[in-house]
Amino acid sequence: MQQDNWTSPPDSLHIESRHVDVWRIFLNLQADSIKLAESTLSADEAQRAARFHFPKDRDHFVAAHGILRQIIGRYLHCKPGELTFSVNQYGKPSLVDSKLEFNLSHSGDFALLAITQNRKIGVDVERVRQGISSHVIAQQYFSKAEVAELQSLPMEQREAAFFTCWTRKEAYIKAQGIGLSLPLESFDVSLSPNEPAMLRAVRPDSQEAARWTLRPLDVAPNYAGALAVEGIDLDFRLWDWNSTVHV
Ligand SMILES: CC(C)(COP(=O)(O)OP(=O)(O)OC[C@H]1O[C@@H](n2cnc3c(N)ncnc32)[C@H](O)[C@@H]1OP(=O)(O)O)[C@@H](O)C(=O)NCCC(=O)NCCS
Repeated sequence: MQQDNWTSPPDSLHIESRHVDVWRIFLNLQADSIKLAESTLSADEAQRAARFHFPKDRDHFVAAHGILRQIIGRYLHCKPGELTFSVNQYGKPSLVDSKLEFNLSHSGDFALLAITQNRKIGVDVERVRQGISSHVIAQQYFSKAEVAELQSLPMEQREAAFFTCWTRKEAYIKAQGIGLSLPLESFDVSLSPNEPAMLRAVRPDSQEAARWTLRPLDVAPNYAGALAVEGIDLDFRLWDWNSTVHV
């Protein structure tokens, strides 16, 4: 797999229509950074944070949401606590009164935040768990073409391909933002290690797949990641949140 190059972001962030920015965020922050993040959350986010049983999960949630606010605040030139979000009926959050589109995913010690303008966008990161019954899960969640492609691979490639497929499907579902009312059987993604990432087909609209870009994201060892975004010939920029000093 290609090694993604996550770089340090510039001080001033400017996004143009072909830009797709993806931020990699390591969530294990120092206590003072967690406190800072916490101070910017809405009452609703604070209530959600308080519901976690384990302090580590709570801190990861606070970090992900606080850093999302800090990053988006940098694009929009406003303070993190000033941002207002709304959610659609399926829970997908969006900014009120802004062309900026974003999507967040978190798993294990990492979060990914994808940002663009005027395009549907979805992102997914999954910590790779060993020993899961990938064959059984694939039969339940993947399309027929995806199951066939998975089974055509040598055994030693199947676990990685399973997570590849899972994250690509999840990224596309998240981009559409209507949860599982978009049937998992209604679209096919590529999953073989020697094939480019692509949305192979969307049913019933045969034109739809060609309008999308799917991109794998190499987050860290033992993590799988993927991005789905409307449009082609886009300019991807990968920023590493933790490589900068944040004030
Ligand atoms: C709700 C859903 C986003 C869950 O995704 P997940 O993998 O558990 O979680 P992620 O960390 O990737 O994403 C969660 C974030 O996505 C955003 N989100 C929530 N609902 C969303 C939706 N309907 N669409 C897009 N994004 C959504 C939120 O920012 C959320 O963060 P928060 O919970 O901290 O507020 C949704 O994708 C879902 O239910 N998917 C179906 C699950 C499934 O069966 N997948 C099979 C794939 S093969």
